[in-house]
Amino acid sequence: MTTRAVVVGLGHYLPERVVPNSEFEASLDTSDEWIRARSGIQNRHFADDTETTSDLATQAARKALAHAGLAPDDLDAIVLATSTPDLTFPSAATMVQSALGMTRGFAFDVQAVCAGFVYALTTANALIVSGQAKRIMVIGAETFSRIMDWTDRSTCVLFGDGAGAVILEAQDGVGDKTDRGILSVDLNSDGQHKDILYVDGGVSTGSTGFLRMQGKEVFRHAVEKLAKTATAAMDGAGISSDEVDWIVPHQANLRIIQGTAKKLGLSMDHVVVTVQDHGNTSAASIPLALSVGVERGQIKQGDLIVTEAIGGGLAWGAVVLRW
Ligand code: UT7
Repeated sequence: MTTRAVVVGLGHYLPERVVPNSEFEASLDTSDEWIRARSGIQNRHFADDTETTSDLATQAARKALAHAGLAPDDLDAIVLATSTPDLTFPSAATMVQSALGMTRGFAFDVQAVCAGFVYALTTANALIVSGQAKRIMVIGAETFSRIMDWTDRSTCVLFGDGAGAVILEAQDGVGDKTDRGILSVDLNSDGQHKDILYVDGGVSTGSTGFLRMQGKEVFRHAVEKLAKTATAAMDGAGISSDEVDWIVPHQANLRIIQGTAKKLGLSMDHVVVTVQDHGNTSAASIPLALSVGVERGQIKQGDLIVTEAIGGGLAWGAVVLRW
């Protein structure tokens, strides 16, 4: 018998305000055509002044609990991936724990920027497989609108706010690729590339700072590293790409998503794409895409799914799971 971490509930939350590309045309030398052609993005959601990352995360978490038919105290832990926590500390995860009224267990944040959800899934899977926890809420939540330089057209048109949550539960499997749940993981980082995508603020500077990105450089690394990590995770699970039902990639750029699918030998019919509606929501993008993919009727129980992401660090990775 093998213990598997199986998804038993999920949900997402997007702030009410939808911002189309055309809204940037008034203040920046940019156009809807450029943004669509270079990134695939059409709209993104921005939190209002009163909404924080933990607020978005709490809304997604409540939906996931309702979807699973569970109460907050049925959870043993909350693992929350974010690079935009409300405060330096305490963790956004403990804020969600409090907002949900969860009176037991433990909660902490994981920070791996756009790869955060893949890192958080991997962490939660390890806690479940090692017997430390039976049920874990894994959340990706961001308010990247708070770290945008609104004068920098090369970054501020690309990002959005949102949150997605999944609940993982320990279930028995037979130990092969037919099991439901997380089948394999692959994590990587290379700090040599820390200067191509970073925020120029934090505890050492006395200000929150703004996101800075050498987009072309990040792009160059993305397709190659994403295809490699997805292949490593598929090898780990003992599966080939023709068995994959859905790639659920980090939603940064449609051209990166297409390039990676092509390298993996998969048609776009097997890729869940939400970048046009959400922009790049960093650690929130994969759980948002999973939740939307289920809502659309794309992802069904028993499907074999590969998630993959890359972001600041650089940090990247992939998870293979059966829904
Ligand atoms: O989630 C974390 C990981 N992040 C990513 O994966 C993002 C990776 N990078 C990208 O998605 C793309 O590199 C971008 C979408 C950021 C940019 O696309 P690109 O095809 O690499 O364009 P570029 O940076 O080479 O810029 C082309 C031109 C430049 O002008 P010149 O130098 O050719 O005259 C830019 O100044 O487009 C210009 N440009 C813009 N023009 C209109 C840059 N931003 C804009 C803009 N509107 N918003």
